Amino acid sequence: MRLLVCGGAGFIGSTFARQRLLEHGDEVTVLDKLTYAGREENFHDFAERPGFSFQRGAIEDPDAVAGAIAAAEPDAIVNFAAETHVDRSIAEPDAFVRTHALGTYVLLEAARTLKGTGEHGLRYLQVSTDEVYGSIEQGTFTEESPLRPSSPYSATKTGADLLVQSYFHTYGLPAVICRGSNNFGPYQYPEKLIPLMILNALHGDRLPVYGDGMQVRNWIHAGDFARAIGHVLAHGVPGEVYNAGGPDECPNIEVVKRIIELTGAEESLIEYVTDRPGHDRRYSLSSEKVRALGWSPQVRFAEGLEETVAWYRENAWWWEPIRSGDYREYYQRQYGLGLS
Ligand code: NAD
Ligand code: TYD
Repeated sequence: MRLLVCGGAGFIGSTFARQRLLEHGDEVTVLDKLTYAGREENFHDFAERPGFSFQRGAIEDPDAVAGAIAAAEPDAIVNFAAETHVDRSIAEPDAFVRTHALGTYVLLEAARTLKGTGEHGLRYLQVSTDEVYGSIEQGTFTEESPLRPSSPYSATKTGADLLVQSYFHTYGLPAVICRGSNNFGPYQYPEKLIPLMILNALHGDRLPVYGDGMQVRNWIHAGDFARAIGHVLAHGVPGEVYNAGGPDECPNIEVVKRIIELTGAEESLIEYVTDRPGHDRRYSLSSEKVRALGWSPQVRFAEGLEETVAWYRENAWWWEPIRSGDYREYYQRQYGLGLS
């Protein structure tokens, strides 16, 4: 298969690109704007492989999208491109609206124009999130649950999902949506809970826990989510939504304490800080529909976390340029705390 992977220089997109290229023999063209979160370092082990190419450009730029499509001649477009950090969406929602609303629209228009030109017809897959359903105290969200996003991040992701569905209903674009729960694993930018806590613990920096730390997240390894996306692309029914949730849930404070154990840091580094405004208490996804397509998650949280800590320990080349760059200013602004 020939794939155009938008946002493929980020954490999950590059995991997906690696899997498709190395394990499935697909041809992969990545289109990515290279925001602070997009990095060519994420291609380090496959950049030179035949069948891989990279184009720098934004999904909201119709010329960049047309150029990438002309180069890739894709059978499918998979859209990971997004602004992905809830805290940044609270501080500066602008880019979230542009990328999720306008960017998704530009991609859908290009896909609509191309529909039916590929060998099996062009497919479109939108990568989405459990956050579109909002918070749930008990039980799990299914694909039928109402959409109740609460942050500018999740609201704009929801808007993008609705636009994708409208292109299926109105124009017959064979589009599917795959909604993942909280991902973790190698190559995740250290603004997110797990890599932030790992790197801070390794450096002896404070571990900033929001509110009471009892918020619960449903953790999925990025490799498992990438496989779910591949499964939905191959077997999903056009127009449908598929949830892909991880096998384990964990309150934040327990995640932090496990990281402390795995890194040998001091528990006194934990610092309870002001809660995130509008903080969702718990996410939980039911994945029965994608399991019925033959997918199931392979990595349990405990073993995946241990491997992830080991990866960050062994790959300072990957995070050192981040931690010594603009990230420091972001961190100071966000937490009012310094980094060593
Ligand atoms: P990430 O922030 O690591 O990567 C996002 C990538 O998109 C970066 O490479 C960035 O440069 C690129 N990008 C941003 N705006 C762009 C634009 N306008 N045009 C082209 N490229 C652009 O994010 P991630 O964690 O890999 O998430 C990927 C997708 O998965 C997102 O759509 C996100 O909503 C979804 N998702 C993430 C999680 C999670 O826990 N990380 C969970 C469920 C769903
Ligand atoms: P995050 O990784 O930002 O993902 P999301 O908000 O999309 O779930 O945060 C995961 C959880 O960890 C969330 O409940 C917020 C919390 N959190 C902290 O307590 N401290 C932090 O420094 C960060 C980044 C997150």
